[in-house]
Amino acid sequence: METIIKRIDLEREKPEDAEIFCEASRILKKGGLVAFPTETVYGLGGDALMPCAAQNIYAAKGRPSDNPLIVHIGDFDAVDKLAKNVSEDAHKLMKAFWPGPMTLIFEKQEMVPKETTGGLDTVAVRFPSHPVALRLIRESGVYVAAPSANLSGRPSPTRAEHVIEDLDGRIDMILDGGPVAIGLESTIIDVSGKTPVILRPGYITKEQIAGILGRIEVDPAILEEHVQEHLVAKAPGMKYKHYAPKGQLILVEGGSMEQVSTRINQLVEEAMGQNKKVAVIATKESRDCYKAPLVVTIGSRQDEESVAHNLFAILREMDTRGIEMIYCESFEREQLGQAIMNRLLKAAGYHVLHLN
Ligand code: TXA
Ligand code: MG
Repeated sequence: METIIKRIDLEREKPEDAEIFCEASRILKKGGLVAFPTETVYGLGGDALMPCAAQNIYAAKGRPSDNPLIVHIGDFDAVDKLAKNVSEDAHKLMKAFWPGPMTLIFEKQEMVPKETTGGLDTVAVRFPSHPVALRLIRESGVYVAAPSANLSGRPSPTRAEHVIEDLDGRIDMILDGGPVAIGLESTIIDVSGKTPVILRPGYITKEQIAGILGRIEVDPAILEEHVQEHLVAKAPGMKYKHYAPKGQLILVEGGSMEQVSTRINQLVEEAMGQNKKVAVIATKESRDCYKAPLVVTIGSRQDEESVAHNLFAILREMDTRGIEMIYCESFEREQLGQAIMNRLLKAAGYHVLHLN
């Protein structure tokens, strides 16, 4: 299949944009797939109410079909069409964080097919804020089911180039809106039970959510290893191998910045002794401490948003460069750090070296 790729300039609306969104809408309405930017990561969209569109999404991504999709909406009224028993807490969260990087899990209406929800009686709903996502949803009139637009198991795409890398020739269309702002997927909160629970940490932190609700629970599987063995992850997608670069990523933590960099430098030397291609993922604060053939800066510890923004692109760069061993510092598990560490731990297959 030939994938149509169209650039949308966010700064300046062009007359030809109308035809592009028209074509994207036609594709969605006939069950086809359109990748589009959101403020978090690129999504791979299909009509959430068409079972065959969901099947097409699973096939294009190579994703197990028991892993449910998030339904993207373009206005608040859509919630009651898709969801039942929307709680008071859910209303508070919607008011505080939508449109934006938050997904809520509700009991589903009959209209939502099981193909979209991976067989569950609940549905994940998100109202994104990105102008391209909103225009696509609103002009097509479609509720857009969209997982991240990567091949299953690869890091989520934060630029159109990443989507092209993974899905060119496998989907109908890609809308290229340039690099996304946030770079980590939305925070998922289950509001279908008595107490809201965070199932996946994201840009909206548990501290912010607690600020609105007064309290919030966190699925203990979030920062734990071997989820399948002793904890059942409530977001089915969280149990799969994720974000993994082809090389082995190892996180080093505990001790001062100097102790961490000294240990990483030793590990780099050992790996180079075994003729491995090695890289270090450093921060702006620490990068000058490393002696390695490749040192990439993920961002600044003073600005964790920069770390979130660059994380997935750096994991992809490791693959492009054929890196076999990757050493990375770890981050605090508070605030945005919780989401950053959740993704890094998965990418590392939970390989963490604790100093001391
Ligand atoms: O930021 C995002 O959320 C991006 C953009 C495109 O919106 N989407 C995204 O989708 O990250 P995906 O499919 O890569 O991740 C969706 C996660 C999966 O872990 C899935 O298991 C969980 O949401 N999920 C979806 N529906 C669910 C449900 N009914 N109950 C529990 N978890 C659900
Ligand atoms: Mg994903």
